[in-house]
Amino acid sequence: MMRIGIIGMGFMGGVHLNAWQQNRYADVVAVCDANPIAGKTKGNIDAGSDELNLDGIHIYTEIGAMLSAEKLDAVSITLPTHLHKSISIQCLEAGVHVLCEKPMALNVEDCNAMMAAADEAGKELMVAHCIRFWPAYAWIKSVMEQGCAGEVKSAEFSRLTYAPVWSGDSWFSDQSKSGGIALDLHIHDLDFIQHLFGEPDAQHSDGLRLENGAVGHVVTELKYGAGKMVRATASWLMPESYGFRMAYEIIFEKLTAVFDGHELKIFPVDGEAYTVELDPGDGYTEEINYFSDLIRGAQIKTEITTEQARESVRMALETMKL
Ligand SMILES: NC(=O)c1ccc[n+]([C@@H]2O[C@H](COP(=O)([O-])OP(=O)(O)OC[C@H]3O[C@@H](n4cnc5c(N)ncnc54)[C@H](O)[C@@H]3O)[C@@H](O)[C@H]2O)c1
Repeated sequence: MMRIGIIGMGFMGGVHLNAWQQNRYADVVAVCDANPIAGKTKGNIDAGSDELNLDGIHIYTEIGAMLSAEKLDAVSITLPTHLHKSISIQCLEAGVHVLCEKPMALNVEDCNAMMAAADEAGKELMVAHCIRFWPAYAWIKSVMEQGCAGEVKSAEFSRLTYAPVWSGDSWFSDQSKSGGIALDLHIHDLDFIQHLFGEPDAQHSDGLRLENGAVGHVVTELKYGAGKMVRATASWLMPESYGFRMAYEIIFEKLTAVFDGHELKIFPVDGEAYTVELDPGDGYTEEINYFSDLIRGAQIKTEITTEQARESVRMALETMKL
C-alpha cells in the first residue's frame, strides 16, 4: 500500500482524505495542520462524508516532522494557495510525489520553480484540476474526441457562489494569498476550456468589483478563431443562501448539452431531448484515483500536465487586467 500524507486539513484536506480513503492502493498514514483539527470544514460544495475519519492516522503540526518520520510515497497539498510553491518544493525535495490543489501557484515564475523541483527530484507533481475529472465535464471531452456531435459552435461555463467564508484566518479575501476570484474560482473553467480547446488566440474579460475593490464577478471571452464562441463567468456575488452552482451550455453542430449542476440534458438536432446517465463518483475521487495510478506506474500523464496547469494560471492572471 502507498503511504499518503495530507498537508492542510481545512475544507479541501477533508475532501482529499475522504477520496484517498476510497482508493484501494493507498493508506492515509499522516495528516498535518498548523492549527488543531476540530472536525470537517464545510465549504461551498457538498463533497462526500461530513465526518473526518482520522482513526489510526498520525497527526502533525509541522510538515518537516511529518516528512522525516513517515516515509511517505505521496502527499496531497491542500494548503492556502500562497503556500503551494514552497511546500510542494519542500515535499519534492524530500523525495515525495505531490498532488497540489489548484491553482498551481500565484504566478508563472512560481509554477516554473515547482516544475524544476519535480524534474530535479524525479517525482510526479500533479495539480488537482478536479473539473477535468468531473463526470459531467469529462463527458464533453469524450464526446469531442468521439466526434459524434460535430464541432462545438458555442461553449458557456459558469461558476456562481458566495465569497469563501469558511477559512479560519480569512486568507481567501487577501488577494496576495489567494489570487482572488481569478485564481481561486474562475481558473476551474479556464483550465477546463484549455483542456477542451487548447490555449486561446486571445481573451478579454470584464467584471464588477466588491466594496473592498477586489474583483467579485468576472466574465471572460476566449477567442479560438471564427465559428466558435467560448465564454466563462465566475461570481462571488451570490448570497450564501444560493450555495454553489457550476453549469454549462455547449452548442455542438448536432446537439446542445445543458448541465445545470445536477442533470445533463441533451437536445439533439434530430430527435427528442434526453438526460445522460452520468458515471457515478465525483471529480475529487476520480482525480485521486488517476494520481494514484500515475504514481504507481499504472497510468501515463495525459489528463493534466504541469505545463497546462501553469498555462491556466497565466490565463487566470490575464483575466485580472480589467
Ligand atoms: N478543487 C476545489 O474544488 C477547491 C475548492 C476549494 C479550495 N480549493 C483550493 O484548496 C486550497 C485550500 O483551500 P481550503 O478551502 O481547504 O482552505 P482552508 O482554509 O479551509 O484550509 C487550509 C488549511 O491549511 C492549514 N494551514 C495553513 N498554513 C499551514 C501550514 N503552514 N502548515 C500546515 N497547515 C497549514 C490551515 O490551518 C487550514 O486548516 C486552496 O489552494 C484553494 O484554492 C480547491
